[in-house]
Amino acid sequence: MQKKKTIQDFFAMKEKGESITLITNYDYPTATFAEKAGIDMILVGDSLGMCVYGYEGTMPVTMEMMIVHSEAVRRGAPNTFVIGDMPFLSYQTNDETAVENAGRFFKEARVDAVKLEGGVRVASRIKAIVDAGMLVMGHIGLTPQSSSQLGGFKAQGRTLESAKAQVEDALAVQEAGAAMILLEAIPPEVAGYIRDLLTIPVLSIGAGPYCDGQLLIVSDMLGVFEAFTPKFVKRYAEIAKISTEALTAYVKDVKAKAFPERKHIYPMIPEELAKFEEWTASQKVARDKK
Ligand code: KIV
Repeated sequence: MQKKKTIQDFFAMKEKGESITLITNYDYPTATFAEKAGIDMILVGDSLGMCVYGYEGTMPVTMEMMIVHSEAVRRGAPNTFVIGDMPFLSYQTNDETAVENAGRFFKEARVDAVKLEGGVRVASRIKAIVDAGMLVMGHIGLTPQSSSQLGGFKAQGRTLESAKAQVEDALAVQEAGAAMILLEAIPPEVAGYIRDLLTIPVLSIGAGPYCDGQLLIVSDMLGVFEAFTPKFVKRYAEIAKISTEALTAYVKDVKAKAFPERKHIYPMIPEELAKFEEWTASQKVARDKK
């Protein structure tokens, strides 16, 4: 059984230059796979809005959905550092709501940290949650909850002005007390600069190789979610293809009466079967007499 890593372990890994592995999981089975694979951290991401519930974005995701999925992930990966992703409007309104909702993740789903999106503008939320004794991961760059303001799911930091804004956001997140930060879809040069500037671990999803660790979404990397695949994804399996082929074979078997076979049934005990046949025959005789 692997020993659960702590935030101190992640700081030590940054110090030693050892890459941190992070995956977004939503459920019990994939959490068990991740723990068996030796993943360092699991994020229960609000991307489940798209990958599990089929919404167009993350906006409709609620605290209730996030808590249920975080509980399932915790059951599947009891010895892995788990981060709960705070959904849209669970922290944006004020510091008190942010602390209450962050607390729900810890109390109900036993997570180790929460993640929230934004830099300078959420600094007071991060500080409030940290002051209440909880660990926070910041998230800047392409922040899906504000995709309408960003003009869609667009990479950030590609101009000097935007790169400087990313650096300013990263510093604000660290200064507010976050224990880690995730950079999404920004150029590697900008990410590398932020990684060197900050003392906290800097994780990347689509932010290139010069970070302290990498994140992929399980549905993307296993080829489960087919609606779209971001450029930064590497596919390690084709589960949607394999699953569709398997379901097609099942439909064919049932139509052809090739399933179930003898090995899939629960036969009666032979002497009981003889008695059952005798009884059904007597029932038929009785019915014929009517
Ligand atoms: O919800 C999620 O999986 C995330 C990643 C896209 C960073 O927040």
